[in-house]
Amino acid sequence: MALAFRPLVLLLAVVVIHQLPRSARAGDPDILTDYVLPRGADPAQINGSFFTYTRLVSGLAGDTAAKFTVSKATAAEFPALLGQSVSYAALVYGPGTVNPPHIHPRASELLVVVQGPLVVGLVDSARGGAVHTAALETGDVFVFPKGMVHFQLNNGTTAARAFSAFGSASPGTTSLPAALFETGIDDAVLEKSFHTDKATVEELKHDLREAPGPAPEPTPANSAAALAVGGSALLPRLAAALLCVGAAFSLVV
Ligand SMILES: *[C@@H]1O[C@H](CO)[C@@H](O)[C@H](O)[C@H]1NC(C)=O
Ligand SMILES: *[C@@H]1O[C@H](CO)[C@@H](O)[C@H](O)[C@H]1NC(C)=O
Repeated sequence: MALAFRPLVLLLAVVVIHQLPRSARAGDPDILTDYVLPRGADPAQINGSFFTYTRLVSGLAGDTAAKFTVSKATAAEFPALLGQSVSYAALVYGPGTVNPPHIHPRASELLVVVQGPLVVGLVDSARGGAVHTAALETGDVFVFPKGMVHFQLNNGTTAARAFSAFGSASPGTTSLPAALFETGIDDAVLEKSFHTDKATVEELKHDLREAPGPAPEPTPANSAAALAVGGSALLPRLAAALLCVGAAFSLVV
């Protein structure tokens, strides 16, 4: 009788595994190859340029505008990072600017200041929400634990610069101001949540529209690379799943 169920379970396993690449992720997948080839790529054509990203920094000098900018090299911009569990961001803080409180749901962040000073802070959710801040100088390194709300502030009169390394190829960014006031959450919910009135909520929404934060991370789904994970990593995953299902059933039978 168990035998009769086997095709059904196999089909179920195939369906479940097939959906994996499209679902929201809480972390980077383990890959079963050293790196992930773009779909349809000829392995013989892979050379140094596949492993190179040339657009992270467009010149360190110059930009002293009073704005905060971020340039990213994550799997979305740099497909060779797929499955490697690392990525980078280059951060430039104009005088008096802030990288507003935000979280990276899938990665710890290791920030190194290359032009300080820079004030950083994090909300320690493991210690009752204590706020830990530090005044960093050039050469200092600070770690923002995965999933904790954090921010950076250039409290000076000249530009500050930093690089951040992430423990995920797709760290993700949820900016708290944007998530709360730019996503269409009903005013009534925000009024009650912040113990304030409609006018204040509207004012906050309006201010954010006038001066939006840094551009949100592009969705990895738009890159051909995201498909490549499904393509090239699917077969080994499928094989492993089928082996597991087979093993389980050989015990039952
Ligand atoms: C490396 O590969 C790319 C893409 O296949 C190709 O355009 C480029 O010419 C190659 N470079 C060298 C030095 O072979
Ligand atoms: C910013 O600098 C001013 C003047 O030095 C200081 O009073 C203030 O505490 C600083 N703010 C932060 C958040 O470090």
